[in-house]
Amino acid sequence: MATSTVPVSISDAELKLLQTLVYQECGMHFDERRIHFLQDRLQRRLKVCNVDTFYSYYRLLTSGSGKPELSALLENLTVNETSFFRNRPQLDLFQKSILEDVLQRKQGRRDWTLRCWSAGCSTGQEAYTMAMQICDALAYYYLRNPLPFEMPSPKPLIPPPWKVEILASDISYAALRTAQEGSYSDSQMEPVDYTYRLRYFDKFGDRYVVKKTVKELVHFDFHNLKTEFLPQRNDLIFCRNVMIYFDEAEQKRLIEKFYRCLNPEGYLFVGHAESLFGLTDKFRMIHQNNGTAYQRIEANI
Ligand SMILES: C[S@@+](CC[C@H](N)C(=O)[O-])C[C@H]1O[C@@H](n2cnc3c(N)ncnc32)[C@H](O)[C@@H]1O
Repeated sequence: MATSTVPVSISDAELKLLQTLVYQECGMHFDERRIHFLQDRLQRRLKVCNVDTFYSYYRLLTSGSGKPELSALLENLTVNETSFFRNRPQLDLFQKSILEDVLQRKQGRRDWTLRCWSAGCSTGQEAYTMAMQICDALAYYYLRNPLPFEMPSPKPLIPPPWKVEILASDISYAALRTAQEGSYSDSQMEPVDYTYRLRYFDKFGDRYVVKKTVKELVHFDFHNLKTEFLPQRNDLIFCRNVMIYFDEAEQKRLIEKFYRCLNPEGYLFVGHAESLFGLTDKFRMIHQNNGTAYQRIEANI
């Protein structure tokens, strides 16, 4: 049994087996730059499970009763770094141009439901940023395009007949639990200016908690982007700083899936260090004031 503090040695073959298993399960690829991270996390899990060889650990992961440990391993391999208002130029593009385009097209079709997906949402800051920006954009849009629907009192966050559904998903249950709580520290709130804090958060002690009305716009759920069964009919998908952990083949597969998960002419947002360049010809790039987004190209347009 692995009780000593001396690391258990791992053979190249064992490492390859585990690397392949992780890749097949969630798409994460550990190249030379990140292989030490994988080895370190594997050592930790070996200790927790009290097994003495990596081959036994692999057997455990692939056994009928190994599912909980596989989830725990994947959870330990994820990088959950995130923040509110991450990549402001891109969010400006989202709020000022892209939402305007989507709302106009939807209004033309009398389709009042805006569906957005934060894929790889981590602890929720991205999804709540989207929610706050959509509320503001929709209020401003409504000011310029009022509709003959009675405004309930008190004035709701989302003017009728509009509806907003934001799905936020991740592979980490721990991150999803934190996201659902929506409670953030002073340092996590640093990028959130006071007008947003006043309108969209309550203060409890030293924590800022997302208001119930904003939380109600966001539904958190587990989705593994490696699987084929992903949420459909989205107007907008944010998948930022997730593909960076996948290899090129997996990135291509994921982009193809996102194409199918988007409504016609829907938009995909990827991270600052990510790009669709060379991976697909099914999206057109939109670049304005340092912000980038990708729009689904339709065959007949
Ligand atoms: C670096 S965070 C990015 C968070 C947020 N999108 C942002 O840009 O701030 C990457 C997230 O992707 C999630 N992730 C990694 N592989 C995934 C997969 N196969 N399916 C779903 N989520 C995954 C991780 O758990 C992690 O929370």
